[in-house]
Amino acid sequence: MSLRHFIDGTEPGPAGVEAIARRALALSRGAPALRMSKRLISVFMNASLRTRLSLDAACHGLGIHHQSVTPGANAWALEMRDGAVMMDGDKAEHVADAVRVLGQYGHALAVRAFAGLQNRDEDRADPVISAFVKHAPGPVVNLESARYHPLQGLADAATWFDHLGQVQGQRIALVWAPHPRALPAAVPQQVLLTASLLGARITVAHPEGFDLDPEIVTRAQGLAAAGGGEVQVTTDRRAAIEGTQVIVAKSWSGFSGYGRREDEARQRETLGAWRVDQPDFALASPGAGFMHCLPLRRNVVATDAVVDGPSSWVVQTAGLRMHTAMALLEQLLGGDPWTA
Ligand code: CP
Repeated sequence: MSLRHFIDGTEPGPAGVEAIARRALALSRGAPALRMSKRLISVFMNASLRTRLSLDAACHGLGIHHQSVTPGANAWALEMRDGAVMMDGDKAEHVADAVRVLGQYGHALAVRAFAGLQNRDEDRADPVISAFVKHAPGPVVNLESARYHPLQGLADAATWFDHLGQVQGQRIALVWAPHPRALPAAVPQQVLLTASLLGARITVAHPEGFDLDPEIVTRAQGLAAAGGGEVQVTTDRRAAIEGTQVIVAKSWSGFSGYGRREDEARQRETLGAWRVDQPDFALASPGAGFMHCLPLRRNVVATDAVVDGPSSWVVQTAGLRMHTAMALLEQLLGGDPWTA
């Protein structure tokens, strides 16, 4: 496996993602980790619990020195616009300068920068991760950008391999869930891409108006077709859940609704019935699992009974964030160690 950057999670290809997921499962069961004398610098533009701390724990397990900064809090706020005249405002440093400097301190850089949810074209261009890739001298790892959350995708994949044995041909329902606020679509888009890459039969269910980026849906359909799977999109929540082996819940803001936030907020108030509850698991396949990337608003997205119940895989997946990050870093910084 040859990896330069890890941006949308498809870079390793289906066999590579399966190898990383299975290696992560082995690490979670006590397999010895590679040790390497490397340095990683992560830049967090947004809050995080799992991503920041699982990355730190993964680096500790591999002997990697990890430093993390938050621009605007413990580092200078970054200007992202090319050609900006940085006369006023609070942005003291341009991303081009910061990334080229940090790239000398770390063997790899990692960055989290969510979608702004104001400008559809800007979010589609994924400006922060794109700037890092443009200016970094070494590998860049996406810790959740406007469009993708590939480390979450790896942990999802490891969970699927653990419970389902194989992912190809298995049924996964990606179901929109209620939430009081408009949220970015990076996580559901990543679920869709990762499941499609692995050849799952994935159904996306969402209310009218809460569509995902059609460019990503089309790409996922191509990946699924190549891998023996399929992608379906429906507004029929029940049909998506019936017979499925996995229910992945997530709230997201509609792609076609960019700029119509007030309409969407009013619509969301009427969609409480999309909350995941125990009767959903009577419709799903016996033994079906419940997944969510966390954090999760209990009894809004899903009931306590589901989150704490026997079908819930959420805590396991969050734990695997550490092992999948280790397995990825072994590949990214260790020189393809499993095939050497
Ligand atoms: N799932 C996830 O990325 O969690 P954090 O936002 O806490 O990092």
